Amino acid sequence: MRVTGTGHASMRIDTAAGSILCDPWVNPAYFASWFPFPDNSLLDWETLGQVDYLYVSHLHRDHFDAKHLREFVSKDATVLLPEFPTSEMADELRALGFTKFLRAPNEQVVELPGGLKIMIQALTSPTDGPIGDSSLWVEYDGVRLLNQNDARPTDLTVFAELGHVHAHLLQFSGAIWYPMVYELPQSAKTAFGKQKRERQFDRTWRYIDDLKADHVFPIAGPPCFLDDALWQFNDIHGDEGNIFPDQSVFLSEYAKVGGTNGIVLLPGSVAEVTTSGATTTHPQPVEEFFANKTAHLEEMRERKRGVIEAEKASWRHPEIDVLAGMKRRIEPLLDESIYLAKGVGGPVRFDLVGYDGESVESIVVDFPGKEVRPYADEKVRYRFRTERALIEHLLHIDEVDWVNSLFLSCRFSAARIGQYNEFVYAFFKCLSTERLQYAEGWYDEHERAVDAEDVTLGDWVVQRRCPHLKADLTRFGIVDGDQLTCQLHGWKFDLPSGRCLTSVGHKIRAARVDAETPAPAGGPVN
Ligand code: FES
Repeated sequence: MRVTGTGHASMRIDTAAGSILCDPWVNPAYFASWFPFPDNSLLDWETLGQVDYLYVSHLHRDHFDAKHLREFVSKDATVLLPEFPTSEMADELRALGFTKFLRAPNEQVVELPGGLKIMIQALTSPTDGPIGDSSLWVEYDGVRLLNQNDARPTDLTVFAELGHVHAHLLQFSGAIWYPMVYELPQSAKTAFGKQKRERQFDRTWRYIDDLKADHVFPIAGPPCFLDDALWQFNDIHGDEGNIFPDQSVFLSEYAKVGGTNGIVLLPGSVAEVTTSGATTTHPQPVEEFFANKTAHLEEMRERKRGVIEAEKASWRHPEIDVLAGMKRRIEPLLDESIYLAKGVGGPVRFDLVGYDGESVESIVVDFPGKEVRPYADEKVRYRFRTERALIEHLLHIDEVDWVNSLFLSCRFSAARIGQYNEFVYAFFKCLSTERLQYAEGWYDEHERAVDAEDVTLGDWVVQRRCPHLKADLTRFGIVDGDQLTCQLHGWKFDLPSGRCLTSVGHKIRAARVDAETPAPAGGPVN
């Protein structure tokens, strides 16, 4: 099996029974904030795009690049579709000209002609990607590969059970706006960033250990930031709180925990994977490339300046009345929302900075009051500050997912009172009836699910499944005194009270071993 690195989470898998192109991403994403790193725009995409199968793991724009898919990927390719709850991905691909689809039943091996086997695991909670993320398992001629990309399943058992895996490709770096955009003292940002960076690596080691594949390929990040306004997010400034470590950092951190089987793919690197080993050729020595990272980024920044400027020129729509537009889009959804609105639980304020960089329009999305209105000098739970032009653009293109556009752009700052509230972001990624209904239904089901099993961790009896996304706490839970940390996403719980210390709601059922029965957990919404 041949694996060609094509940048970020993208790869082309070639076997004698057919080729699969995964997640090709070349054009900047999220308001021209993210670019693939290392640069992959100079690869021979005409040839790479001539494939038998296309697999797009999810709709995040660093995995689903509509322009590139339209221009460069053969429309004869059969799309291997994860079993997502909504039809958005299939609809978008159809609109780009794809006509052949194979909807892979979740977690079931599908045999394709010529002896190629695939299995897709679709993750479908409202917090997985933009309503869905997925992983692709491939087997041909005894060689097995798992392209986990940035999916976060609770464990990898379903893949491990299919036999020893030879190549495991997974994310290790950051892909979020936290903590950089928060209006915090630099020292606090560095401390939070450091914790996050360590957690990302810990999670990666756990997945690697789950599968024990012969070879581990760090993929799906980091992106690079070429706009001058975002340049500081590149991990080239010696900031230990930077959440975007690159593949060479992965190799050195991996070595510290005894990892010796890491393989970095540059765009254009080719790995031939067999049951007995892997040989890799690179377009240039990997070490040399990373030693010159800053020069690579600076050169890329100059080359892409025009692309960024052209994108920026398309954002302003002074004819749009932003308050009226937000009212029109958001108020009907506030009316429909039970769980998300209750979960947010308070007003969320948007401060929109005008074209002059000075004037500010303040708009509140009032979740309890179910309306969008001018800010009325009240206390708010979350405040976002961004350019008015970005919201104009979102309204102009009818964007249904402000996470997969505005928030991932990192072109905003944020302040909040109290804990992280996942419902805020879940709501703003569900600005369509289809998505909102799905998310509401998911939370409803999740709430009602009886999770009665308890396990003993140290001096505590706790519910077995994490109140966040059901990770098995016998594997991911670490108890330190009265505090439990679930290492899947790093959430912390105060065991005596059951309170989640990381996010609003999500109470855990816990009792000391010598107490009679665990205290009942409250609902995750408060
Ligand atoms: S499942 Fe996310 S922190 Fe436990």
